[in-house]
Parts: sequence; C-alpha cells; structure tokens
Amino acid sequence: QTLSSRIVRIESLGDERGQLTVLEENKSIPFEFKRVFYIYGTIAGVRRGFHAHYKTRQALISVTGSCKVHLDNTKRTEEVELDSPNTILILEPNDWHEMYDFSPDCVLLVLASHLYDPEDYIRDYDKFIKIYSKS
Ligand code: TYD
Repeated sequence: QTLSSRIVRIESLGDERGQLTVLEENKSIPFEFKRVFYIYGTIAGVRRGFHAHYKTRQALISVTGSCKVHLDNTKRTEEVELDSPNTILILEPNDWHEMYDFSPDCVLLVLASHLYDPEDYIRDYDKFIKIYSKS
C-alpha cells in the first residue's frame, strides 16, 4: 500500500435529536487547517480538481450526497467513493486528485492546511510526474 492518501472514519455523535460530527485539528484531522471551502451544485458529468500541491494537505468530506475521487501519487492510482459525513479522505500534497460522479445534492467540504495560493498548485500532469516520481 503505497498510496499517500488515506481514509479516516470518525464516529457520529448521534442521539435521539439527530446527528453531529466534529472535526478537530491535530486530532481527527492530522494537520492544522487555515482554510475551508465547499463544492456544491456541481453540474452532472463534471470532473474537477486535476491538480496536486507542493505544500497543501487537505481533508475531503462529502457532508451530503456522494462523489468519487480519482487519486494518483505517481506510483499508484485509486478511486475512492465519499458517501458519508463520517468518512474523511486525507490528501497529501503529492496526491493528484480529480473529483467526479457528484450526486446533485453533494456538498463536498474541504479543509486545507494553507491559505489559497495559486503558486502552490501543480496543474500540469507531466510536471507533477517529474516532481514526485522520484520521491
Ligand atoms: P478550482 O481550483 O478550479 O477548483 P477545483 O480544483 O476544485 O476544480 O477553483 C475554482 C475557482 O475558485 C478558481 O478561480 C480559484 C478559486 N479559488 C479561490 O479563490 N480560493 C480557494 O481556496 C479555492 C479552492 C479556489
């Protein structure tokens, strides 16, 4: 298993009133997060992402609905389905990722270790392979 990403399953704090899930930095999320964004209202058939990073670590949670993530760390590829608010996909900087098969109700929550910086994106696949295939 050489994939750098990994799935973390967390417990829901449900009771007779309903469900509650908590994410804490350096606990269920193995890094400190400076930025949160969410992807929703995704049009059918859309595939997005298509990048890796130099520094940014991310945690992806489909809080409602479902989507799939294609991962590639230059050594291995994998398809992961996110279909539960208690399933977290941790992405390392060297995980090229593409998200697809969004259900119409999907809200994909992303926690990121760094503020938004376009310079931290590797959007060229060949460049990604050159940078990370040696490590
Ligand atoms: P984009 O990088 O295309 O999203 P994805 O990689 O998931 O397909 O982001 C869409 C737009 O939003 C793009 O113009 C950059 C901007 N953006 C920010 O300004 N801040 C952010 O934190 C993110 C993730 C995107």
